[in-house]
Amino acid sequence: MRVTYVNGRYLPHAEAAVHVEDRGHQFADAVYEVLPVAGGRLCHVGQHLDRLERSLAALAIAWPVARRVLPVILGRVAVLNRVRDGLVYVQVSRGVAPRNHLFPPGTPPGLVVSAWPHKGPSAAQAERGVEVRTRPDQRWKRPDVKTVGLLPNLLARQSAKEEGAYEAWLVDDRGVITEGSSTNAFIVARDGTLRTHPEDRSILGGVTRSNVLALARRQGLEVEERAFTVSEAMAAREAFLSGTTVTVLPVTRIDGHDIGDGRPGPVTRTLRALYQELRRP
Ligand code: PDD
Repeated sequence: MRVTYVNGRYLPHAEAAVHVEDRGHQFADAVYEVLPVAGGRLCHVGQHLDRLERSLAALAIAWPVARRVLPVILGRVAVLNRVRDGLVYVQVSRGVAPRNHLFPPGTPPGLVVSAWPHKGPSAAQAERGVEVRTRPDQRWKRPDVKTVGLLPNLLARQSAKEEGAYEAWLVDDRGVITEGSSTNAFIVARDGTLRTHPEDRSILGGVTRSNVLALARRQGLEVEERAFTVSEAMAAREAFLSGTTVTVLPVTRIDGHDIGDGRPGPVTRTLRALYQELRRP
């Protein structure tokens, strides 16, 4: 039976609910993390908890349980749901209080943890690559904070999907690709340099992104954390997405335009293989 943790209790999933006045529900006043489980083991726990800590601090929400206790709950939810390869979702809200824009003093934060099996993109998508569509980046100015306020991300992804694409690449007012709706964006430029947007306030600093950068540097690749425009992406040799749900996924078309020869390139293939290795227990 599927089990979900809500505020101290492990409940049958169908009964797992938060109050209508949970501030995550009313105001998107909540932050979250999605962690991979590979071979029954939670991956990159320290990195995800570090980012959760930064998100909580940015919104002045307290830890719902001690930081060292959280991995125990995450692991238990994964085991109770028999997840060997999948995802664990953790959401922390500012808690339940009568609707008021001001923070409710003395209210305990709310904690929800769920888990489910997840395989990631199909073998065909990984081998052939996927298409992305560019969309305006309409998010608030702090997408580095991992809040559940994802409506602009949803709208971009849905409209990209309706045009047959896998992901939306978000383009800011400078004409720069910041990142995907739920993934980070990389290119291998004409000169062979691996490029991705720097980790500033205009992107979510992906755990996969930083692990890919470390792997690439270890491979001796030239790496540049520098923004790139849509036309630079279209002229690139290779392009790919990084993220918990996709690991490294080749992008072979942008807005209907082939990248390189329209097939996943050697750098992307190598980084994907190395990342699968990193996840292996
Ligand atoms: N998304 N950028 C955005 C906007 C994201 O929401 C995510 C993750 C990433 C990749 O981060 P990471 O490598 O740490 O997964 C980049 C999660 C998985 C989600 O919303 O489902």
